[in-house]
Amino acid sequence: MQGQFTRRSFPLTAAATNDLSAPASIPASIEDVQSLLRDQAYITDRGLAIAIFLALKLQRPLFLEGEAGVGKTEIARALAAGLQTDLIRLQCYEGLDVNHAVYEWNHTRQLLEIRLMEARGADAPAPTDIDLFDPKFLIKRPLLEAIDQSRDRAPVLLIDELDRADEEFEGFLLELLADYQITIPELGTFHAVHSPVVVITSNRTREVHDALKRRCLYYWVDYPDYQKELQIVSARLPDAPRQLAQQVTSFIQELRETELYKIPGVSETLDWTSALMALNMRQLEPEVIDDTLGIMLKYQDDIEAVRGEPVRALLERSQNRGPRRGGRRS
Ligand SMILES: Nc1ncnc2c1ncn2[C@@H]1O[C@H](COP(=O)(O)OP(=O)(O)OP(=O)(O)O)[C@@H](O)[C@H]1O
Ligand SMILES: [Mg+2]
Repeated sequence: MQGQFTRRSFPLTAAATNDLSAPASIPASIEDVQSLLRDQAYITDRGLAIAIFLALKLQRPLFLEGEAGVGKTEIARALAAGLQTDLIRLQCYEGLDVNHAVYEWNHTRQLLEIRLMEARGADAPAPTDIDLFDPKFLIKRPLLEAIDQSRDRAPVLLIDELDRADEEFEGFLLELLADYQITIPELGTFHAVHSPVVVITSNRTREVHDALKRRCLYYWVDYPDYQKELQIVSARLPDAPRQLAQQVTSFIQELRETELYKIPGVSETLDWTSALMALNMRQLEPEVIDDTLGIMLKYQDDIEAVRGEPVRALLERSQNRGPRRGGRRS
């Protein structure tokens, strides 16, 4: 059916160039990146701040891998807020395709247009003259949104949990990541006026293809060490009693060194602190830890493994631990 109708005969290729200074005031230094994100209650160590700084400066996508709940997604949110720009999010899932990620033709509107023309009768253009591939029939999905030429500043594009999408989907990203452009066969090539700041995350449930990684700067987001995690708790939960925050952080650090099926992430630290605050706790006690293990551990086997005596031993070790030692021992 489509072949009967007029096709746009010229490509909508923008002659635009990438404006390097486009995203609102890119931080001038690594320290500026840290403070921009700290203003959004996001704490970065130097390694991560360098990766973000370089991604912004070199206009390269940032590929973040790490365990669940270590703060990968939040980086994109904090960056968008800090740069005062839009966050465009593409949540990946099995079966994600171009229609949901890039663009889709609005078939209902196309059909309505034809019906309308038919109803108008002789005065209207013949249905065969209708341009069914006019941009007005285009539904923009997140990837196309991110390079929309009408934007006055670069957005942050978050491609979240890429490892959940099928491997074939990565192929659609290559053109976008390499040149910040997308080709729509019926219309031509769209090129971003302001290159989006692209953040891709993966939980590493499968390896992402080298061709995609090659186009990105890579950073492994690790569990935070004690000092960083305490800063995170203080930034996210400023009302948490200091002693409680310190004890929770120490305990979680110790718990991460236990043989578990699923080690708690930063989100669990924050959830647990909030729960203890809701229970009006000002310091950790073994019984309360036992009663709230389900906030940190999400597998019954893990809960059974630490409940009771192990919790007491962990608490004692964590109290001797203090702020001296770093993150998870490998
Ligand atoms: N460095 C940090 N500074 C401030 N908050 C943090 C930091 N790291 C993690 N968090 C907080 O921890 C929670 C989990 O973060 P986030 O959702 O970004 O994790 P994730 O790595 O994307 O997890 P998942 O893989 O499950 O999606 C959020 O509430 C986030 O604000
Ligand atoms: Mg996430």
